Order: sequence, then structure tokens, then C-alpha cells
Amino acid sequence: MKRIGSLKLGGEVFLAPMADYTNIAFRTLCREYGAAMVYTELISAKAIAVKSGKTFKMMETNSKERPIALQLFGNNPDDFGKAVKIAEKMGERKKSDEPNFTFDAYDLNCGCSVPKALKGKYGVALMEKPKLVGEIISEMRSKTKKPVMLKMRLGYKTETFLEVAEEAEKAGALAIALHPRLGTEDYSEKAKWEKIKELKKSTKMPVIGNGNIAIPADVLEMKKETGCDFEMIGRAAVGNAFLFRQASALLKGANVLVKYRKETFVEGKRFLELINGFKLGVNDAKPYFIGTARGFEGAAEARNAFALAKSLEKIEEIFNKNFG
Ligand SMILES: Cc1cc2nc3c(=O)[nH]c(=O)nc-3n(C[C@H](O)[C@H](O)[C@H](O)COP(=O)(O)O)c2cc1C
Repeated sequence: MKRIGSLKLGGEVFLAPMADYTNIAFRTLCREYGAAMVYTELISAKAIAVKSGKTFKMMETNSKERPIALQLFGNNPDDFGKAVKIAEKMGERKKSDEPNFTFDAYDLNCGCSVPKALKGKYGVALMEKPKLVGEIISEMRSKTKKPVMLKMRLGYKTETFLEVAEEAEKAGALAIALHPRLGTEDYSEKAKWEKIKELKKSTKMPVIGNGNIAIPADVLEMKKETGCDFEMIGRAAVGNAFLFRQASALLKGANVLVKYRKETFVEGKRFLELINGFKLGVNDAKPYFIGTARGFEGAAEARNAFALAKSLEKIEEIFNKNFG
């Protein structure tokens, strides 16, 4: 069984954190389809430290999606210490309480490259400050016995990932995810998997490889090319949690499971059940359903219809029309 510190994991393919996509329903769906671990989207350490009610809402979890990591962003070590302490305290509620706030690991965001992050000097901006990354990790570690990890890019404008990894490891980080692009690069450039290999050679921490996994075979390919310990999937899982089932089967040496329309239908219906069960709304469901509409005749119209839908009933109607 694979581990990150004391955390035992039932597989090795993770769901990547994605703002506005990886809500509680989508994370639960991906766990049901075999993702070994999920993350919350990035959440402000400062907002938790000052006990913002809106932020607590974003932190809701449920027992079925564990193991789950809480991903934090910010740049002040003190905020991170306070945020982890508060999260730990919230996690002391009974595990059977739903929703609950129990996390299995904490993750530092060193990858977000949106203009707001650059202006606020968090996310990928931290890649220019390896010592600060070490201080933040130390502060997080001092407030929890659970694994503290980080997710980074290659650097902001120049590559600093090896220095950042070294400081993080010294400070006690127990795993590191690499999305191998600079903060200045967009998704049109292919993720540089050879950098994941470089990182793996330079650190003792388990390495989580990420970027451009599109089909099940890519998981095996990334593992073979880079020697990474875990693989992380973002965009390709949207509308396609079945990818985790396929990838897990391949990793176990089984043949890849074929995905037919029926599988998409069953998965989409389950997602709607989860959306309703967690009392989420149409905007929480949309990104997933837009993701289902790929690679068939009429997909562009279906995507457009999903994007314009104003209710969950409308989403279901469009879904049934295309996949039922
Ligand atoms: C819509 C969107 C939102 C994202 N939000 C986050 C986030 O909250 N935290 C984070 O570390 N990375 C975030 N990312 C980056 C992904 O986790 C991942 O590193 C990136 O998409 C590359 O993986 P992929 O090629 O499998 O999608 C986001 C990416 C996308 C497309």
C-alpha cells in the first residue's frame, strides 16, 4: 500500500485541485470512481485565520470523499499556522456528522498564476521565495501531525523548483506535486514531464506528477518516463471520472476498460444525485456537464446548451437528450 507519511492510500492516481470545479460533489464522484486522493480547491489561509463564514462553507467535506487534502494559499506563515490549527479543531467533530471538516493532509499552493495571485504575491509568486515556502511549511507542520505537502510549478519566470523542493523538504513537507510549467506559460505549451523526472531524482519526498494526462495510458507513460510515485489528473477528469477507474485498472495490469455512452450516462446521473444530495446548484453542476460533451457529433451544441442552462432540471433534460 502506498503512503504519504502515515497516510495510507488505496491507489496512486489523484484528482487535482481545480477552483470552481472540485466541489464536494465532484470530489466524491471521483473517489467513487477510484481517485486515491482529492483536494479542495485553493482556499485562503488568511480568510480561515480570520474565521470568514463564507470560507468555512468552502471547507465542507464528507466522510465518503476521504482522504482529502485542504489546499491553502497565502504568503504569511502566521496565517497558515492559524488556518491549520482552526481546521484541526473543526475536524474534531464526530466523523459521522455531515457535513464535516475533517482533512487528512494539508497542501500549500505554489502554482496559482492568475493575475490576482501575482498581485497578491501568493500562488506561483512563492516560487521566487524558497525560504518563505520553508517557513510556511514549518508553521503548518507545527500545528498538525497530518502530512503537509505542496503543489508547485517549475517557477514563476525562471525555474526554481529544485530550490523550493529542497527548502520544503528541509521544513518537513512529506510530498510534492509538480505541474511542470512556468507561471508565465499557458496550457498551449506541453507540460515538461522530464522536469518531474529531475525532481524525483533530487528529492526523497514522494513526487506527484501532473500535467497533460488525457487518456488512461498517459498515467502509465508518465510513471514510466518520470519515475513519479503518484499521478494527478485535472482537466481530463471533468465530465469523466471514469478515467480514474480506467487508469487504476491499467496500473493493476488489467486491460483498459472501454467507456461507452452508457458509462457516461450512469456517471452523469450519479453526479446529479450528489449535486442534489449536497444541495448544490446549477452553477456547481455546469462545468462537469460541459466536460461530458466532448468527441461526438453535436457536442458543441450540447456544451452551449449546458452553459446556458438556468436550472438543474434543464441540465438533466439536455443530458438525457444526449446520453439517455
Ligand atoms: C479551472 C482550473 C482551476 C484550477 N485551480 C487550481 C487550484 O485551485 N489549485 C491548484 O493547485 N491548481 C489549480 N489548477 C491547476 C491544476 O490543478 C493542474 O495543475 C493543471 O490543470 C494541470 O493538470 P491537467 O493537465 O491534468 O489539467 C487549476 C486548473 C484549472 C484548469
